[in-house]
Amino acid sequence: MKVLVFGSCNIDYVYRLDHIVEKGETVTTCDFEIFPGGKGLNQSLAAAKAGADVYFAGCVGKNSEILTDILSENNVDISLIDKVAEKNGHAIIQVDRNGENSIFLYPGSNEKITKEYVDFVLGNFNSGDFILLQNEINNLGYIVEKAFQKGMQIVLNPSPFNEKLNSINFNHISYLILNEVELKTISQSDNIELGLKLIKSSYPNIKVMLTLGENGCVYIDNETKIYRAAFDVDVIDTTAAGDTFTGYFVAELTTNKTYEEILKFSSAASALSISKKGAAVSIPDRKDVISNIKNLGVRSTNFALICLQKTINCYINQNIKTANLKDLSELLGYSTDYTGKLVKKLTGKPFSEVLQIKRCQSAAEKLLNTDLSISQIIEQTGYKNENFFRTKFKSQFGKNPLEYRKNKF
Ligand code: RIB
Repeated sequence: MKVLVFGSCNIDYVYRLDHIVEKGETVTTCDFEIFPGGKGLNQSLAAAKAGADVYFAGCVGKNSEILTDILSENNVDISLIDKVAEKNGHAIIQVDRNGENSIFLYPGSNEKITKEYVDFVLGNFNSGDFILLQNEINNLGYIVEKAFQKGMQIVLNPSPFNEKLNSINFNHISYLILNEVELKTISQSDNIELGLKLIKSSYPNIKVMLTLGENGCVYIDNETKIYRAAFDVDVIDTTAAGDTFTGYFVAELTTNKTYEEILKFSSAASALSISKKGAAVSIPDRKDVISNIKNLGVRSTNFALICLQKTINCYINQNIKTANLKDLSELLGYSTDYTGKLVKKLTGKPFSEVLQIKRCQSAAEKLLNTDLSISQIIEQTGYKNENFFRTKFKSQFGKNPLEYRKNKF
């Protein structure tokens, strides 16, 4: 069974810096490197490194050897790639001291895909073959329709999430591989379990693979629901962790493994990728995954508790001024007493303390990102008493609010 990745190639300009740049801020970076990247390229490399028979289709511009060489060196078939008169797509990536990133893209050649080219590419594939798509190219809706007509198994990673996805008929997607933010946007729900149910009820045949970063991943189809906790590794750079997972997941689908095995193997590959710098270059090969998997520790997480924790956080953040245990217990459908115990179990703290921490965090965020006065912030975060706010703020952040705002940079 072949795997066609119809997607993007980007040249990634990666800057390492203390924190992601904020509006109006200038930050000097401590490192700069250029890497091959793009979700299409990263995912096809991951699938090929996992051992699948992978073909890459997409458009590249002039001087694209940095992109095409890494693909062919890793056994991805590049004979279908189209060369166009447009600049290569590129990405500006900031990676902060915790390994978290922020990306903006110039699509360039990635958006030069014509319908004729789509027809030509798909002419090389048959019913049952996999096609893996992301959202960094144009004509996605057309590709989905044509691949569906051919009987291909369509895997969609709706990333980055934007209105271009409206052109896709989700009923034609076999597998949807998405993260929490994408789930919330598609389902319009902040509650993970409800979001999954809503997607399944809108598109009954879709199989959903939800990745939750350090909280693991969950797979759902009409018969199964499988949760897998994440492997525990030191985070160096999270860029392409999702791409590594996706490429491995699709490669493993072409084998006869169970979903439990597929989730375990794909999670291990993704964990190994975050312990290295770069996107494409951080993707481990099958041998690396096999030799490291037995030495990787697993985080002790539980899906139901993660969902509860996220629902509680979401409730407090959305009701920062008025949040209270009674309303939370009504939302969760438990007694006040049980909800209080649950919050304590999940956070190690009573509800009132969790609320104070969240209020201080909200105040800190407003101090940094708005011009609101202290009394406006106190009012908006639900504090009745200024002295109480100042005491709590100082004990949480080690500074009084105005010092905190002044020392922003
Ligand atoms: O998922 C990571 C990728 O997103 C980067 O390689 C960058 O090119 C963007 O497409």
